[in-house]
Amino acid sequence: MGVSYLRVSVTDRCNLRCRYCLPPAGVKPVAHEEVLRFEEIARVVRAAIRVGVRKVRLTGGEPLVRKHLSRLVAKLAELDLVDDLSLTTNGIFLAEQAKELKVAGLHRVNVSLDTLDSERYRFITRGGELARVWEGIELALELGLEPVKLNVVVIKGFNEDELVKLASLSLERPLHVRFIELMPFGPARAWFREAFLSAAAVRAQLEKHFGPLLEVKKLRGAGPACYHRIPGAQGTVGFIAGMSGHICFSCNRLRLSATGMLHPCLFGKGEVDLKGPLRAGAGEEELVRLLAQAIALKRSRPSSLPEIDHLSRLGG
Ligand code: 5AD
Ligand code: SF4
Repeated sequence: MGVSYLRVSVTDRCNLRCRYCLPPAGVKPVAHEEVLRFEEIARVVRAAIRVGVRKVRLTGGEPLVRKHLSRLVAKLAELDLVDDLSLTTNGIFLAEQAKELKVAGLHRVNVSLDTLDSERYRFITRGGELARVWEGIELALELGLEPVKLNVVVIKGFNEDELVKLASLSLERPLHVRFIELMPFGPARAWFREAFLSAAAVRAQLEKHFGPLLEVKKLRGAGPACYHRIPGAQGTVGFIAGMSGHICFSCNRLRLSATGMLHPCLFGKGEVDLKGPLRAGAGEEELVRLLAQAIALKRSRPSSLPEIDHLSRLGG
């Protein structure tokens, strides 16, 4: 399978502690010297371009807690062949950084937003302030960091009653609301059974309210999500079926962890260390060879249950 999409985790740290992602105290942060430097990430991306990567997404943890992230964005934006450079963020620091990210060459953002209620937001993130996220979203729209996508993790008993409202965000403005199935990682393992709501159930709930959704052909950066439009809406709604769907078939991505491990597949084994070779002075040819090795590991079928303890290390 060809690989065209590389997700780069720029830090394992996060300023929030979402209940489905991290334990209350967070996890022990990796020592700074273990984390790839910007120059090292840029070397990996250059090699990744040689094996077909055209889309690069920066993730975390929370990428905006990494100091001077716009410097990395500028380095990557310089590489002509990257034609889609995006960022996944919880949005807390987005208003502060959106302008410099845009100037540095960032194309677009995905913002996590599980609820429209500030009390609920504070609860699910263990202390986050929703108003700051909204400022960030507004500014992203204003600056044209588009399409702006909103990621909603669907949780029964938490935001099940808000799905219509969340989908309605796509009506008036070009916001693309993506409903993501809860996955049994880390802390969510314990309450996954009670809280899981399938993408199909979410869609049924929306169609009951809005009527049949229209199919949308292609949205920039469309991955495993299918996009639909509420009749007359400016934006779209999408459904990401992590567990019940068959996203592996269309998966064309590689993940690079903050510490320089290449993960061919969220569900599978087989990691390839790049930090060692990078720091031992590996040239581009050597990196290309290691990337090809990781891509070859993607072909093996996924085992059914993820082995990682919390997604924050890998950035979802
Ligand atoms: N289930 C689904 N998505 C998750 N994320 C983190 N933990 C989970 C989980 N248990 C995703 C969220 C978040 C991103 C960083 O990772 O979408 O926005
Ligand atoms: Fe929440 Fe994302 Fe941080 Fe996890 S990494 S705690 S999902 S903001």
